Amino acid sequence: MTETALEFEHVTKTYDTSGAEPFRALHDVSFQIPRGRTVAVVGRSGSGKSTLLHLAAAIDLPTSGRVVVGGRDISSLSDGDRSRLRRTDVGLVFQFFHLLPGLSVRDNVVLPGWIAGRPQSELDRRARELLDRVGLGHYGARPVQKLSGGEMQRVAICRSLLARPKVLLADEPTGNLDDENARRVMSLLLELIREEGSTLLFVTHSEEMAALADEIWSIHSGTLQVSAPEPTATLTASPTAMN
Ligand SMILES: Nc1ncnc2c1ncn2[C@@H]1O[C@H](COP(=O)(O)OP(=O)(O)OP(=O)(O)O)[C@@H](O)[C@H]1O
Ligand SMILES: [Mg+2]
Repeated sequence: MTETALEFEHVTKTYDTSGAEPFRALHDVSFQIPRGRTVAVVGRSGSGKSTLLHLAAAIDLPTSGRVVVGGRDISSLSDGDRSRLRRTDVGLVFQFFHLLPGLSVRDNVVLPGWIAGRPQSELDRRARELLDRVGLGHYGARPVQKLSGGEMQRVAICRSLLARPKVLLADEPTGNLDDENARRVMSLLLELIREEGSTLLFVTHSEEMAALADEIWSIHSGTLQVSAPEPTATLTASPTAMN
């Protein structure tokens, strides 16, 4: 049976707004993503895309319904267990990279491993493997702020995959890149996800990038439309097969 990497069950998210009525950012959202699948989420500004990713990353909790990451209901976890889940099961990539400018490329990649207390030799090995994979094997010692945007996002992708997360969540990962770099970064990201057997849920405004995913879902005013994937082959039943 295929493992479910991420599941939402009737999830609603309401934000308190000072004075005014509470604002419902997500309404009755349900889906399951099996391990290994890639899903693009598209929708207008303010439709609830980042809210959805924040819940999937266990950064925030649903107002009602269940968010299950790697088999665990995030609302049932203590704050400490939820932080650990974020470190081990979830990887995050952002539009503006969120790298630490004072550190080298290698140190940016291994940083989450230091926080998790993993052995340095293991972290060095994994960082080298990932940086080699994205074509930045020789850049380990460089200050990260000297890199181009596309290079920075490749470093951020390495950092997000350091702990071999079950789910990678990316909020407009190519939104700050030119077309050529966007294509390069997105295809690398998808290749890595497939090689690592991970799962990707990403938000994009680009139809071209969305088309690279296994499925494209759309969100309108907090309501998610989960479309079935295109069938890989059309069933053409011949009259004899019908009998
Ligand atoms: N902490 C918050 N408090 C109150 N309202 C919020 C909060 N966070 C988000 N919202 C509101 O919820 C709605 C959804 O926000 P969200 O950031 O998920 O949109 P988005 O689809 O990611 O938009 P964009 O494409 O502009 O990034 C918006 O109307 C936003 O103003
Ligand atoms: Mg957003």
